[in-house]
Amino acid sequence: MLNDVKEILFNEEEIKEKVAELGKQISKDYENKDLVVVGVLKGANVFLSDLIRKISIPITIDFMAVSSYGFSTESSGVVKILKDLDFSIEGKNVLIVEDIVDTGLTLKYLYENLKSRKPKSIKICSLLDKHERRKVDIEVDYIGFEIPDAFIVGYGIDYAEKYRNLPFIASLKEEVYSK
Ligand code: PRP
Ligand code: MN
Ligand code: MG
Repeated sequence: MLNDVKEILFNEEEIKEKVAELGKQISKDYENKDLVVVGVLKGANVFLSDLIRKISIPITIDFMAVSSYGFSTESSGVVKILKDLDFSIEGKNVLIVEDIVDTGLTLKYLYENLKSRKPKSIKICSLLDKHERRKVDIEVDYIGFEIPDAFIVGYGIDYAEKYRNLPFIASLKEEVYSK
């Protein structure tokens, strides 16, 4: 697995610091408000687990599982809901937590979908933002790091379902995904 890594972009310490910063800001912004944190599986799983432990106000969590990439390196553009939320978000403050915004298609779809369920407010937090790849306009309220257009994995992010368990965020060697 480590042999496939080209370069480490963010190490464990850097990620930890950024996640703490985000958690602190979110705790401040939602003080005295009810907050439902919605994790987008599978990619956001690792980030969400660390982030919620840096949020110091009472929250509830729920999950959506969606997929648009599958085993491909290109977004299909069609977002499939594999698992829906367990609870209603009507009248609730919702924070969608994602690992990465790339084309923006996944978040655009999720945002519109969740908005139609009449939440009180809805915001987005993404650890990574690959802005130059954006195909649709989507406002991300909390961003961890801006990243260049490289194929990246780790800290929850996969290539063909692998590498999610790398504790850092890294780019992959071209030969890994070009064969
Ligand atoms: C990845 C990633 C984001 C989305 C970003 O999910 O976790 O959810 O793609 O890409 P986009 O902005 O171009 O839509 P994926 O569909 O691979 O599912 P996964 O989270 O289960 O890996
Ligand atoms: Mn995802
Ligand atoms: Mg994926």
